[in-house]
Amino acid sequence: MNVGISAIGTYLPEKILHNTDLELTLETTDEWIQSRTGIKARHIAAEGEFTSHLAIAAVQNLVNKHGAAALEHVDLVIVATATPDAYFPSTAALVQAHFGLKAAAFDIMVACAGWVYALNVARAQIVAGTSQKVLVIGAETFSKIVNWYDRNTAVLFGDGAGAAILEPVGAGFGFAGFYWGADGNGAKFLHSGALGKRLPSGEPLEPFVVQNGREVFKFATRIMPEAIVQVAKNAGWQLEDIDRIVPHQANARIIEAASERLGLASSKFVVSIERHANNSAATIPLALEHGIEHNLIKQGDKVILVGFGGGLAWSAAALTWSY
Ligand SMILES: CC(C)(COP(=O)(O)OP(=O)(O)OC[C@H]1O[C@@H](n2cnc3c(N)ncnc32)[C@H](O)[C@@H]1OP(=O)(O)O)[C@@H](O)C(=O)NCCC(=O)NCCS
Repeated sequence: MNVGISAIGTYLPEKILHNTDLELTLETTDEWIQSRTGIKARHIAAEGEFTSHLAIAAVQNLVNKHGAAALEHVDLVIVATATPDAYFPSTAALVQAHFGLKAAAFDIMVACAGWVYALNVARAQIVAGTSQKVLVIGAETFSKIVNWYDRNTAVLFGDGAGAAILEPVGAGFGFAGFYWGADGNGAKFLHSGALGKRLPSGEPLEPFVVQNGREVFKFATRIMPEAIVQVAKNAGWQLEDIDRIVPHQANARIIEAASERLGLASSKFVVSIERHANNSAATIPLALEHGIEHNLIKQGDKVILVGFGGGLAWSAAALTWSY
């Protein structure tokens, strides 16, 4: 059975925080942020606006674009998020209730690799016959867990959400391969805790994002090319067959390094980080939608989605675009 993505919708909160705004509160400059990361601005959720609200707005955008029929027969909702509204209920259950769906619902927590992990799980449910149609959302409010006094991390993240429908598609379209993995030994390089929680080493966790930027950069520039090569192999594709790569938007320099390592033109990579920064599990659907709107992704294109991040973890999907 061929399973693919049949609809996409996204949402970015109204408030925009430019690099120049951060110059007022942090020892940083617009020039530093842009040259080291490619980021110009990020969107910030309002007080009282939580991840479920962003997820619901992304689904509403999907419905506005593709019609209400897109949600008919959805029997499973998965939200990939590292910033859920609560430990429980799941953010997915809140989305299910809002749209009145007769669906199972659960969250997946794999930070920035989460959305592609969720696609893999969703596809497997459809192939197994336990679901007909799955709503897969990546939604985050990282602004609520970022330490706004730490210039090493505060400039990197933003809020946002993206939603997709997965269902059977025509022959020759849809997912051709997946690749995923994790290395919990890297937990010390990128994490965020709640008060009172600890790493297995006993180290207390701060209630906000803590990162060793250089180590994460090294990991990302190694794992992204590796995951692209592996997923292409699993799909039976040669690297030259790939029309477009939609990578996690963490840093434009990580994407450039992957393009150089693979010897693939940088124009093959969709980059939208400039306007929304790193929204963790939401960056890949946001970049995917950017690619579709700018005619960079068309029906029949061979597309690779690739994510990496906290865990450490990584995930990639190869699919032939179906609409
Ligand atoms: C965070 C990151 C942009 C830093 O860029 P970098 O070129 O590696 O910079 P360095 O870490 O070497 O820091 C260089 C200097 O800039 C300073 N600096 C850090 N953040 C700064 C900021 N916002 N503004 C100005 N200076 C800053 C550092 O303190 C350091 O100063 P020092 O040399 O006096 O100690 C980069 O390491 C990175 O992108 N890492 C991966 C992060 C990531 O993708 N995380 C999410 C994964 S899902």
